[in-house]
Amino acid sequence: MFPHKILVTGGLGFIGSHTVVELQQAGYEVIILDDLSNSQLFILDRIKAITGIAPKFYQLNMLEEDKLHQLFLQEENIAAVIHFAAHKAVGESVAEPIKYFHNNLYALINLLRCMEQFGANNLVFSSSATVYGDPDELPIRETTVFKKAMSAYGSTKQMGEEIIEKTCAAKPINAIALRYFNPVGAHNSGLIGELPLGIPNNLMPYITQTAAGIRKQLLVYGNDYDTPDGTCIRDYIHVVDLAKAHVKSCDRLISKNNSEKYETYNIGTGKGYSVMEIINAFEAFNHLQLNYSISARRPGDAKAMYADVSKAGKHLGWKASLGLQDMVTSAWYWQQQLSNAH
Ligand code: UD1
Repeated sequence: MFPHKILVTGGLGFIGSHTVVELQQAGYEVIILDDLSNSQLFILDRIKAITGIAPKFYQLNMLEEDKLHQLFLQEENIAAVIHFAAHKAVGESVAEPIKYFHNNLYALINLLRCMEQFGANNLVFSSSATVYGDPDELPIRETTVFKKAMSAYGSTKQMGEEIIEKTCAAKPINAIALRYFNPVGAHNSGLIGELPLGIPNNLMPYITQTAAGIRKQLLVYGNDYDTPDGTCIRDYIHVVDLAKAHVKSCDRLISKNNSEKYETYNIGTGKGYSVMEIINAFEAFNHLQLNYSISARRPGDAKAMYADVSKAGKHLGWKASLGLQDMVTSAWYWQQQLSNAH
């Protein structure tokens, strides 16, 4: 019996690379497609260094439908596709909405067309908690009503989900959309992790770069929210736990255990931490001090977001196992490896 073949688009990115490692370690054969627009080729060697297996790699932009078509022609019997490849910078998406709609939606549409044509009928979609907008209820359930997306990036995730849902209703395709809360941390080998382009927007890479002396000072965006310490609350999830949710999703689709043709799952720990709790944990567990100060609120930030993760537990058999200490220590270890390499 040959191992099942999984096509991972965006497989050299932050979440993609960790997912490739977990898939290989679970016995899947992995094919990576990536255009290297926001990732680096050396990650391919790092994956091999961790697992001992070199994944097959196609450097390809999914907007080039002919080339995508060629890939499907060449790779027979793709058991499932995990689709990560997308632009993801929230601020840039507000400034350049067309760039985001064009890239993220056409890539998905081209992929679905190829999947339909070649009978590759299982899809795991990289969605985001951003689909909920600023939610009315906490914890957030999969049934929580979507509010208006706060960025074009968020709109592409909402629209992406809708495109997939409608396609599943009409075609033999089955899909699982995973709505990630706040992915952080890195592989404990220190060989793969997040590689933000330029100045990071997200909290954890900003913290690690400040600790490494690359950034002078971390700004805490507001301490006057209606939360216990006044700073915003998020559901941070270790990227290795997150990667494992993709393996479980492939297992479920390939074994035809899904109860609906299109399913959605929140992927978080279910526990919210404030910005100050993250800073304090980072300092305490890594034995260092961060230079930070309180500044004004960042426009568009929700006061608090954390998931009800019971559906993923019940149907995917998945639950986060790594806690805050693992998140902050692995993120810092990765940053140190990166800083040493330069
Ligand atoms: C952001 C995006 C979200 C995307 C996610 C990907 C926005 C509004 N949301 O989520 O759409 O899916 O990243 O990971 O951009 N913070 C600081 N100082 C900083 C950076 C962040 O105080 O330098 C605070 C923020 O105010 C927020 C928390 O840290 O309360 C987390 O911020 P971030 O890591 O950017 O994630 P989100 O905003 O939750």
